Amino acid sequence: MVNLTKTFAAPRGIADLLRRRPSADGVTPVDGVDLAVEKGEVFGVLGPNGAGKTTLIKILCTLILPTAGRAKVNGYDVERESGRVRESIGLVTTDERSFYWRLTGRQNLEFFASLHDFYSDDAREMVDDLLGVVDLKDAADVRFLNYSAGMKQRMAIARGLLNDPTVLFMDEPTRSLDPGAAQGLRDFIKGEIVRKRGKTIFVSTHNLEEAEELCDRVAIFDDGKIKVVGRPVDLKAALGEGSTLSDVFVHHTGKRFEERGGAGATAPGFRHDRRGSPHRGGGLGRRRGGV
Ligand SMILES: Nc1ncnc2c1ncn2[C@@H]1O[C@H](COP(=O)(O)OP(=O)(O)OP(=O)(O)O)[C@@H](O)[C@H]1O
Ligand SMILES: [Mg+2]
Repeated sequence: MVNLTKTFAAPRGIADLLRRRPSADGVTPVDGVDLAVEKGEVFGVLGPNGAGKTTLIKILCTLILPTAGRAKVNGYDVERESGRVRESIGLVTTDERSFYWRLTGRQNLEFFASLHDFYSDDAREMVDDLLGVVDLKDAADVRFLNYSAGMKQRMAIARGLLNDPTVLFMDEPTRSLDPGAAQGLRDFIKGEIVRKRGKTIFVSTHNLEEAEELCDRVAIFDDGKIKVVGRPVDLKAALGEGSTLSDVFVHHTGKRFEERGGAGATAPGFRHDRRGSPHRGGGLGRRRGGV
């Protein structure tokens, strides 16, 4: 992507419209981003709450249009060839409300498979296969509402894989999971999705440990801008022996993060603002004016 930028206009009231005043300054959560991700790599965008991670992923998944700049996914332009982009990608978000809670896991996946235009026999077979991949075969006929957060997240991954995408986008895949479940999910992503299935993964996270463990390369992202890109090991080495990824973040953004502890805490991460509840989504379309 080259000079990718997204500005949301400031909300305007009736009075502004009547006066035909140009809108006041908006927010620019993606601000001149240049990035190239290699085929087959796990690429992480590491940034605190509000950095613009979800907005960046939404643009790349063709859910919103950029204000300026260009981006290609799998060689297809996100604006001019959005249909092609969508055919070749999968999206995993933390918005569990996009599933049907009263349907079983299997029924949910069969429904979403039908949206991809699969014949029902093919869909059944594929759903069965994917339930095995995400280790939910035993719970396949249990209603979604009875799943644990980890199971819901694996369902989201299964859904993201339905069209056998080349690139899988994941927006904070472990956000609502406890440390043990988050670790399990990371192991699963690495083993099953990356090593066995060879997918290219574009993942956002505010979790340093996750970025370090999961990603071949990370982009430190703050205020809509890429501060630095590299392999975690190289980024740390550049700062000197004994440096951590946290030091790298502080060095490039001037911001600190706090260790979180206690029940239900996530792994070391940035201060959460309004996202503490494990039941809140925070995925696509949640905000005012969202898609
Ligand atoms: N549809 C929208 N309209 C106006 N402002 C928006 C919209 N979507 C996002 N924003 C603003 O853009 C900024 C970046 O939001 P974004 O959701 O991309 O950040 P994020 O890095 O994903 O944060 P988080 O870690 O909290 O998920 C925030 O200030 C947010 O309020
Ligand atoms: Mg987000």
